[in-house]
Amino acid sequence: MDSKNIVLNVNGIEVIYNHVILVLKGVSLSVPEGSIVAILGGNGAGKTTTLRAISNLLKAERGEVTKGSIDLRGERIDNLSPSDLVKRGVVQVMEGRHCFAHLTIEENLMTGSYTRKSKGEIAANLEKVYNYFPRLKTRRTSQAAYTSGGEQQMCAIGRAIMANPSLVLLDEPSMGLAPQIVEEVFNIVQDLNKKEKVTFVLAEQNTNMALKYSDYGYIMESGRIVMDGTASDLASNEDVKEFYLGVGGGERKSFKDVKSYKRRKRWLA
Ligand SMILES: Nc1ncnc2c1ncn2[C@@H]1O[C@H](COP(=O)(O)OP(=O)(O)OP(=O)(O)O)[C@@H](O)[C@H]1O
Ligand SMILES: [Mg+2]
Repeated sequence: MDSKNIVLNVNGIEVIYNHVILVLKGVSLSVPEGSIVAILGGNGAGKTTTLRAISNLLKAERGEVTKGSIDLRGERIDNLSPSDLVKRGVVQVMEGRHCFAHLTIEENLMTGSYTRKSKGEIAANLEKVYNYFPRLKTRRTSQAAYTSGGEQQMCAIGRAIMANPSLVLLDEPSMGLAPQIVEEVFNIVQDLNKKEKVTFVLAEQNTNMALKYSDYGYIMESGRIVMDGTASDLASNEDVKEFYLGVGGGERKSFKDVKSYKRRKRWLA
């Protein structure tokens, strides 16, 4: 990979919560400009923590990066505030959507443009968002609380796009959505990636869907990256199939399945 084209580099970060709980145990990843990179793994693997470390949103959770560094286009960003990061084009879309329930869709979108001053630019961004998310246009005056889960996810991504980002950290966009809606959301993400040149880092439990739409993937377990590769290599890897895609050996296996667990330990060893 040509290092000139790497937009984001995470170098061996450790994250501790509440001064004692070591959650990330040396996580490294690199994100090429213009790509969609997936961070995959089950509950509690450390995906959200990794995204929060990048966007510097750990403090609110009493977490801190205690080792390693994070660079954006070769410059250290670990000490920048979340709003400085937004100004540099790094925006996070939180897990669980987090739209303001009492605001309309359009009001929610407008909250994403707080770093932008020019009215013309804000209006143009709003049109751009409506262009990518026609559903949001039809629901523009609806209170977010009364829109569907899919529309709220679109609203959360649309709000991020209002800040003109170059890098969007997308946490679990598929959560709680029907497969067809997940496809719709991912198709728009892919469109934004291709046409607006937005780079995405996508944290997902839905390995199948995430690999379908991303270029490269990192698999996390217990605060470590245990495997990485191109999306197509991961999608055809036997271990990935068994543990994350649920297609190996016929029926779906759960993480708690003893046999899987043993084999997983072997794989991790
Ligand atoms: N604020 C916190 N204080 C203490 N521990 C935390 C905190 N937030 C997360 N953790 C712990 O850190 C570990 C990683 O959590 P994280 O939310 O990053 O995982 P995740 O991969 O995003 O999981 P999920 O898929 O369930 O969202 C878990 O063991 C979790 O319990
Ligand atoms: Mg998470």
